[in-house]
Amino acid sequence: MSMIEKAKIKAKADRKKIVLPEGDEPRTVKAAAILKAEGLACPVLLGDPEKILAVAKANGADLDGMEIVDPENSPKAAGYAAALYELRKAKGVSEEAAADMVKDPMYYGIMMVKLGDADGLVSGAVHTTGDMLRPALQIIKTKPGMKVVSSSFLMDCPNKELGDDGLLVYADCVVMPNPTAEELAHIAIAAAGTAHDLCGVEVPKVAMLSFSTKGSAKHELVDKVQQATALAHALAPELLLDGELQFDAALVPEIGESKAPGSPVAGHANVLIFPDLQAGNIGYKITQRIGGAECFAVLQGLAKPCNDLSRGCSVEDIVNTVVLTAVQAQAV
Ligand SMILES: CC(C)(COP(=O)(O)OP(=O)(O)OC[C@H]1O[C@@H](n2cnc3c(N)ncnc32)[C@H](O)[C@@H]1OP(=O)(O)O)[C@@H](O)C(=O)NCCC(=O)NCCS
Repeated sequence: MSMIEKAKIKAKADRKKIVLPEGDEPRTVKAAAILKAEGLACPVLLGDPEKILAVAKANGADLDGMEIVDPENSPKAAGYAAALYELRKAKGVSEEAAADMVKDPMYYGIMMVKLGDADGLVSGAVHTTGDMLRPALQIIKTKPGMKVVSSSFLMDCPNKELGDDGLLVYADCVVMPNPTAEELAHIAIAAAGTAHDLCGVEVPKVAMLSFSTKGSAKHELVDKVQQATALAHALAPELLLDGELQFDAALVPEIGESKAPGSPVAGHANVLIFPDLQAGNIGYKITQRIGGAECFAVLQGLAKPCNDLSRGCSVEDIVNTVVLTAVQAQAV
């Protein structure tokens, strides 16, 4: 059974309320109808109800019984504005500005999650990554003990000999352009948690990637990965984690054995930590486009789950992202 099929079974067993701020976007409307019909989540669509129902009709989506909330006319808006003002007044947000902000479905949805009126949020069919990330970072914040918010890409590869039955977790591919060594260590620990808690990987094996394996090259970029490896060991001594490793030394048993003999991870890694966002983002796209992997993205480290879509997403991508968000919400 694939990783996403397993996630769907978990999502159905304890249905979570997931808010979709882009409520009048046709793919989102279709996905919401599927999520409700299949019992995968309780979606909430934000926006003008008349417009949403017209989009549903035009697309043959059945929204019967669906929760639809209009942030412009919601009785909860005043309470959300007051809470938002309290949270952000030290950052210069006035009461008037907070009242305006919650009319924006993105902020309204984030406040629903913050205040427990929804369990998670998915957006990004229309908005950019930054449009969604910034309010999530500012308002939802990191979970206790977590230094940064980052992302993991769950790569379901056709070659089932790779990683955990074909599943590789890549981080970070979306959020942190140039993490420090300390941030990279936290990204590695968070990605191991995602592999275990969300993907059911029993033993995460984390490779800290570089263009060098165990000192084969000397450069300040390599130094950063070595420092991150040492810090991650200190922060999570129980974790099977090793570095620095080249991509092939991390994944191919014979190469791992020859370049990093005795490593608990080399040749068998299932969690791959890229040294910066350029490498991570390029790496996941190569795996997807040339390697034929199916790919699913989640944010990790937020106190409550909010996830981003690519603007080119399909209806199925939205359904899958909501399912993963719902499973993340079960663990909060
Ligand atoms: C994540 C991102 C949106 C942050 O934007 P930013 O303009 O740098 O945001 P700021 O530095 O003003 O920070 C905003 C808030 O988020 C917090 N923050 C920023 N990055 C964070 C992180 N990774 N983890 C936790 N908090 C973070 C800041 O502390 C700040 O909080 P505060 O306002 O309460 O003090 C930015 O790093 C970004 O655009 N990353 C790349 C995203 C992207 O385009 N990816 C493309 C691949 S699809």
